[in-house]
Parts: sequence; C-alpha cells; structure tokens
Amino acid sequence: MSEHNIYIYNVDFPLGDKMGEKITVSLIKADVGGWPGHSTVHPNLMETAKKVLESAKKDGLLIDYHVTGVGDDLQLIMTHRKGVDSEEIHGLAWKAFEEATKIAKELKLYGAGQDLLKDAFSGNIRGMGPGIAEMEITERKGEPIVAFMMDKTEPGAFNLPIFRMFGDPFNTAGLVIDPAMHDGFIFEVWDIMKHKKVLLKVPEETYDLLALIGAKSRYVIKRVYPKKTNPKLNEDEPVAVISTEKLYQIAGEYVGKDDPVALVRAQSGAPALGEVLEPFAFPHLVSGWMRGSHNGPLMPVSIKQAHCTRFDGPPRVAALGFQLANGKLVGPVDLFDDPAFDEARRTAAQIADYMRRHGPFEPHRLPLEDMEYTTLPAVLKKLNRRFKKIE
Ligand code: F6R
Ligand code: MG
Ligand code: MG
Repeated sequence: MSEHNIYIYNVDFPLGDKMGEKITVSLIKADVGGWPGHSTVHPNLMETAKKVLESAKKDGLLIDYHVTGVGDDLQLIMTHRKGVDSEEIHGLAWKAFEEATKIAKELKLYGAGQDLLKDAFSGNIRGMGPGIAEMEITERKGEPIVAFMMDKTEPGAFNLPIFRMFGDPFNTAGLVIDPAMHDGFIFEVWDIMKHKKVLLKVPEETYDLLALIGAKSRYVIKRVYPKKTNPKLNEDEPVAVISTEKLYQIAGEYVGKDDPVALVRAQSGAPALGEVLEPFAFPHLVSGWMRGSHNGPLMPVSIKQAHCTRFDGPPRVAALGFQLANGKLVGPVDLFDDPAFDEARRTAAQIADYMRRHGPFEPHRLPLEDMEYTTLPAVLKKLNRRFKKIE
C-alpha cells in the first residue's frame, strides 16, 4: 500500500452489472476536537482512528477504510459486508471516535469529544452525535463512488447539488441523452421536524420536489434511487445517500453544526463523475458558517485546503473519489484538487466578502428561528420595561 492508499488489482468480474457482490460503504464522521479552534483535525486524531480501523481490517470486520479530516470533522470511510445500521460497524466507529477523543483531551484540542453526545455506545450510532451516510449496494463491474464531506453547514446544503445531479438536465446531460437514465430517479425526502418521509419521482414530480427541498432547513434529501426501468442499477439500492442528523434536536442545545456527508455513485446508469461534481462549480449559499448562524457560499476545496479559517469558514465541501474493487477502496482521488474549480473558489471568496459586509444583518445572519443561538431573549428581557406601546 502506497502513501496514498492506491491499490492495483487484477479483478475478474464474471457477473453482469446488476449481479456482483453486496458491499456496504459507511461514511461516519464526528467532530471530536478542533485544532486550533474549530478549524481542522489534528493529525494524531486521524492516526488514532486509523489504528482502530486497521485492527478491524486485520480481524476481517472491515474490507477496507480511509480516514481523513475536513474542517474540524474526523471522517471514517469504511467498506464491509455487514449491511447498513450494523451494530459492529457503528460500534467500531464509536470506538475510533472515543480513542481519538482521548488524544484530543490530552492535547487539549478545542471542544474535545464535542459530537459524542452519549457516554456509552448502545447498539446504533444514530442519534448519538456522529453523522452517517451508508449504502449497501451490488458492486457493479465498475463502481465509482464519491465521498462528499462538508464543514460549517447543515444537511440541507446537499439539496441543491443532489437535485442538480439527479434531476436537472442542464447539469446532467445523461438525463437527456443516456437511455439508461432517461426515465429519471426517485428522491426520498425527509421532513426533519415531523420525522416523516416521502418518495417523489423525477421528472414527473419535479415541481413538488422543489417546493419541498427549496426549504432546505426542514426538508432534506435523504436518498436517491434509480427507477425500475434503469437497466444498469438495482431499484432498491440507492445511488446517493446523505447524512441528516440534526445535533440540535439530539442534544436539545447547541453543540455545533450538523456538518453533513454524502456518498454518491457515478457512471453506468447514474450521472457521470463529471456530472456528479459539476453542481459544485456554483458556490451556492448555505447556512452555517460562523457560530452556525450565517449564510455563506459553499467553497469546493481539496483536502489540503479543507481548513475553516475565514470567519470560521467559509463553509467547505471536499470530495474523494474511489473505484470499488470487491469492497477495496481504490483511491482516493482528491477531486476538487483541480484548477477546474479555481473559479468556483474565487467566486466563493468574492461572495464571502460581499456577505461579510452585512455584519450582523440578515440575510448574512440567519433569520431568528434558524440561528444556533441568540442573545435576543436576554436583550428583550433587559429592555422589557423600556418597550412602550405605540399609540
Ligand atoms: C460553527 C462553529 C464555529 C463556532 C465558533 C464559536 O459551526 O463550529 O463557528 O460556533 O467558533 O465557538 P465556541 O462557542 O466554541 O467558542
Ligand atoms: Mg468543532
Ligand atoms: Mg465541523
């Protein structure tokens, strides 16, 4: 294994596209301490997590893994045969985060253990603080997969780019000209306030879908499925999955943003790799940034540039690409480490300037109901007796 974790294999695939081996890809992340402040992950935390995952790989629990950091979030990309929501895999991730937290405490990193909201693991990492995107899929003859990791924003930040990939013919030429995907896709949307979900077909129900997901702080895309008519993909296996954990709702108080992650499959009946990346050439406005309470542009960056600095941001997205080979993660390729995204970064920096000039005013600052915390109740209490009725 080289420094970049590149594997070279001779892989023989006797089966058709839809009939390979079932593999689960799990991307689980947590902020267990920032260095310095909320800006990056200390390398010792990544080393610690790697040791935990390496030993699970030796024991045969994991097929493969890759550990990285985006902003202050420690990212575990794992492959295995245990399916989604596996107690063993979630327990392993929890252990990696706990071990990393010990180091974070030793180094007095900022907010050590901040996303581990429970003291002990109890069967499923869901609702315990970390964010999760997992999919069990039949590995195709060629299975390109992209891990998207965002910092300083929330799950709804994926709505626009995921819609563009799977629903917008101006982004994805394949929707128009590839017979395999010409019938479109099915979007699973969650109402994260009422804890309900709905499936919507695109293109037939595009406007209904947009009516929901345009309200990105409440309606979030959880998964995208191929349609039954797609000859290259199984209809019950997602082509995209997004983490939707809302830390505020879990903890009942502000403990940091819900920096989301996603897994997206590309090519052969799904959008091409370039169609999957294309939406990020537009640095759209997302909520998060400083104190989880500001709108700002989402800047596509390489892993090396995934350090949240300016006003604790601006919000970032990194993308690592892999080919799966019987569950082996052949990669990563750092997909935004490319001059083709320089203009998007420059635009994002200009938008950051423009937004910052609003200071504490909306729409840079989020509307009251979306801010992670506010002094308004205290200010109102203090001024209560000075407020006079307007005659
Ligand atoms: C946003 C974020 C940071 C912090 C900010 C204040 O998601 O993590 O912008 O909110 O740095 O942090 P504390 O309150 O920990 O000093
Ligand atoms: Mg943090
Ligand atoms: Mg973070």
